[in-house]
Amino acid sequence: MRLDRLLAQEMISRKAMKQALLKKEILVDDCPANSLAQNVDTGLQKLVFQGRQIQGYKHTYLMLHKPGRVVTASQDKDLPTVMDLLPPDIQSDQLYAVGRLDRDTTGLLLLTDNGPLGFQLLHPQYHVDKTYQVKVNGPLTSEHIQQFKDGIVFLDGTVCKPAQLEILSSSSSLSQATITISEGKFHQVKKMFLSVGVKVTSLKRVQFGDFTLDPELAEGQYRPLNPEELKIIKNYLEKSR
Ligand code: URA
Repeated sequence: MRLDRLLAQEMISRKAMKQALLKKEILVDDCPANSLAQNVDTGLQKLVFQGRQIQGYKHTYLMLHKPGRVVTASQDKDLPTVMDLLPPDIQSDQLYAVGRLDRDTTGLLLLTDNGPLGFQLLHPQYHVDKTYQVKVNGPLTSEHIQQFKDGIVFLDGTVCKPAQLEILSSSSSLSQATITISEGKFHQVKKMFLSVGVKVTSLKRVQFGDFTLDPELAEGQYRPLNPEELKIIKNYLEKSR
C-alpha cells in the first residue's frame, strides 16, 4: 500500500507526513522513506513514524496455477474466473491478478491485494521478464531465433522488444519451445508466432520476474507465497522507493 495511504489510516495529516518525510522521521526497515508514494507492506517491512511503529496492513500474495477455460478477471457472465478458484474466505474485492493470461493460457499467475505492487510489476520501467512454454503447429528454425532476437514486427506494424526463443523440438506439424518476453502486449506471444507463420496451440507461463511456477502446484491450485518468495516481494517493494 502507498505510504501516504497507510499513514492516513493512522489519522496522520498530509502536512505532518510531509514534514516528517523532510525530517527523515519516517523509517521503512530503518531507512528514511524517500517518497510518500513509496509502496510499503507492514506485514513484510517495519514502518516507524516519529519513533512509533505503525502496525498497518499485511497484504496477501498468492501463487495460482491457472488452468485453461478460466478467465483472468474478477467476474465473467459465462465462464469461471480465477477468483472462483479461491475459497470464499480468501476472495476479496481488493484481490486481483497481476497481469492477464488468455482464457486458454495456463500457468503462473500472482494474485495480490497490493495494488501498487501489481502496477509496478507490469510497468515497462521494471522490465519484468515472463517465460512461457509453447507448442506451435509448424517448424521452428534458427532463423526464428534471430527474428525474435531482432524484435518481431506484428502484421499491423507494431514492433516488439527483443525476445529469447529456445527451440526444444521441431517438426513440420508440432514444435516446442520456450520464449521469454519483457513486455505485456495483448496476445503478445500468440501474435509473435503468427508473425513468423506458425500458430500457438498451447501456452503455459512458467516464470514471471523472479517467480517460478511451483511444480507441486496442480492446475487450478493456489498457495500463499513462501518465505523465499516473500523476500522477492520485499526486493520489489524496496525498488519502489
Ligand atoms: N501472450 C499471449 O498471447 N497470451 C497470453 O495469455 C500471455 C502472453
